[in-house]
Amino acid sequence: MERFTAAADLHTWSVGQKQAGMKIGLVPTMGYLHEGHLSLIREARRHCDKVIVSIFVNPTQFAPNEDYDAYPHKEAEDIALCEAEGAAAVFLPTPEEMYPTGASTWVEEVTLAKGYCGAQRPIHFRGVCTVVAKLFNIAAPDVAVFGQKDFQQVAVIRRMVRDLNFPVRIIRAPIIRDEDGLAKSSRNTYLSPDARKSALCLSRALAAAGEAVANGERNAAVIESAIRETTTAEGWLPDYVNVVDSETLMPLETICPGASAILLACRKNGLRLIDNILL
Ligand code: PAJ
Repeated sequence: MERFTAAADLHTWSVGQKQAGMKIGLVPTMGYLHEGHLSLIREARRHCDKVIVSIFVNPTQFAPNEDYDAYPHKEAEDIALCEAEGAAAVFLPTPEEMYPTGASTWVEEVTLAKGYCGAQRPIHFRGVCTVVAKLFNIAAPDVAVFGQKDFQQVAVIRRMVRDLNFPVRIIRAPIIRDEDGLAKSSRNTYLSPDARKSALCLSRALAAAGEAVANGERNAAVIESAIRETTTAEGWLPDYVNVVDSETLMPLETICPGASAILLACRKNGLRLIDNILL
């Protein structure tokens, strides 16, 4: 497996691979890899000959009051996991490599990025779009794989790719969960055993909503208040819970199975978790 820290070196390698007829896949991550990330590498390998994994905790998507400095790291283990999954290359740039002094250009999607997580984190998706656009320019992938775990993120990136004509196919891979239902996340490491147990209410509420819809419920308000009730009872207060159109993220009053999703973010004791379900 190749290791790159310089953007120009990765670019030269990737372009060389493409000239040799290889299809290139990219899996952008911030490291502290878990089974969710590894599932994206596997998905990318199904579609591509050579998979690049980027590991970069992107400072521009964190607000000053967020956990950039505390974000967990385990670089040597992450590299070993990428190799074991058959990645062809890892990209481990420094912040200075990605953001040279005086960097002053942003990529911003201004519609899908506004609500939900964007309402709580106003600069977050600008940072995500900027770093992902840079990774696309550096790695020149044919395909990039993102997780449904961050539903709004994939929607925003798909819009950016369409609007800015990036020649990259975006694949959305399903959420990987622990056996008890909790969506895997690098930030789950912040949960105490008790908080982790109570956090199961998010996935439980969404699963119950999925069942209600399967049984014919179509009223979004009914579904949303049932979810709100379940998580609030466990002390997880919703930042938002919305039935939305799965492409435009517009809130829906009536559920349209096949084209709707429920987006959920909850807080408890300064911790924040997100989850979602496609209906
Ligand atoms: P990070 O949180 O490290 O996630 C990297 C990718 O893994 C994202 O596409 C995310 O949706 C996916 N992922 C995380 N948990 C998952 C799970 N349980 N099941 C399936 N996929 C999961 O998202 C980011 O990093 C950053 O914003 C990034 C896109 C790398 C830009 O900095």
